[in-house]
Amino acid sequence: MKIESKLIHAGDRKKAGNFTPVSTPIYMTSSYFYDSMEQLDRIFGHEEEGPSYQRYGNPTTSALEELVTNLENGHGAVACSSGMAALNLAVLSALIDRRKKIVAASGMYGATTNMLMNIFGPMGVEIELADICDLAAFRSAVEEHKPGAIVMETVSNPLLRVGAMDHIARIAKDAGAPLIVDNTFATPLLVRPLELGANIVVHSATKYMAGHGDVLGGIVIADQQHIAPVQTLARTMGPNLGPFESFLTMRGIKTMGLRVERQCSNACKVASWLASHPGVDRVHFTGDPAHPDRETILRLFPKNLYGAMIAFELKGAGKAEVFRFMEKLKMIVRATSLGDVHTMMLYPAMASHRDLSPKQRHKLGIGDNLVRLSTGIEAPDDIIADLEQAF
Ligand SMILES: Cc1ncc(COP(=O)(O)O)c(C=O)c1O
Repeated sequence: MKIESKLIHAGDRKKAGNFTPVSTPIYMTSSYFYDSMEQLDRIFGHEEEGPSYQRYGNPTTSALEELVTNLENGHGAVACSSGMAALNLAVLSALIDRRKKIVAASGMYGATTNMLMNIFGPMGVEIELADICDLAAFRSAVEEHKPGAIVMETVSNPLLRVGAMDHIARIAKDAGAPLIVDNTFATPLLVRPLELGANIVVHSATKYMAGHGDVLGGIVIADQQHIAPVQTLARTMGPNLGPFESFLTMRGIKTMGLRVERQCSNACKVASWLASHPGVDRVHFTGDPAHPDRETILRLFPKNLYGAMIAFELKGAGKAEVFRFMEKLKMIVRATSLGDVHTMMLYPAMASHRDLSPKQRHKLGIGDNLVRLSTGIEAPDDIIADLEQAF
């Protein structure tokens, strides 16, 4: 099946007794009862498939895990209670029997950098940050530090840089370090990291997958060699996504193809309008023909699906002017998150990258005049009209 059909069918229609529900139901139960103790014994011993306790698996969540495994062409998945829980699980499972060193992209979601520097760091994991878009420098960092894992985002948050994942996967392989990729911004519709040689993929399912602003969730999908520790750790650590959120995420994924297509086409229109607006200094957008990583984008992304995130710099603005501009928005939602059906605007210096010092933000190019727009599925003219009146 093509990915557009997998979105609709994968994971669904599991037999339940003598009938088959068309949509996977919400199994709101923490434990499971079997007539025979012998059968329960076989289930606990993994000789027979079946649920026993929610931390070890739930039929609704398992259906979602089967779906996302299919979408990313992985070997298995674990659905987690948030994107950060998923990142935490991915990193722990990669490092458990490897060198306690990580080389990570310097420009990533603030909480991811924070997790590495301020949780894994003090626990004794050496963290080295390197520019993912400077391939030679990234290769040198990996060769010098010999990490146990490498962490990157397909499209960096918030400046939308795109590292050459295919080349980085080769660098990771040569170094014997699993490559962990946060694919939240791209979705498997644009890029499937495992097909490019990455080993573990993470999503904040809160974003494009669930897509409606009503779920907090995360996913870890891994290749054959790396899935076992992910599943084993999850059984003990308990980062599980609940059945109701699993149901909502599965339901959201069914329309992800349509939503992302519309969001990408809206983003192209909005970005080119912003680029010629006198109130804008600079637009960062993966569909821009002048994007610094254009060659990589054309090689890795499908034609005309370049992503729906835009970052732009307001001319001559500081915090106060950005606040006033955002307060003027009427339809565009001023809130933290992205990938939803509604267009949203976020101020990275105040929200996603607040935990970084002003000096760190400045070094990464996240100025006080930078705002991030997640394009929704509304009529593009309405998005542009709302921005225009706010200017
Ligand atoms: C790229 C990226 N990864 C991970 C996360 C964390 O996801 P969650 O908020 O679901 O924990 C976010 C949240 O904004 C994100 O933007």
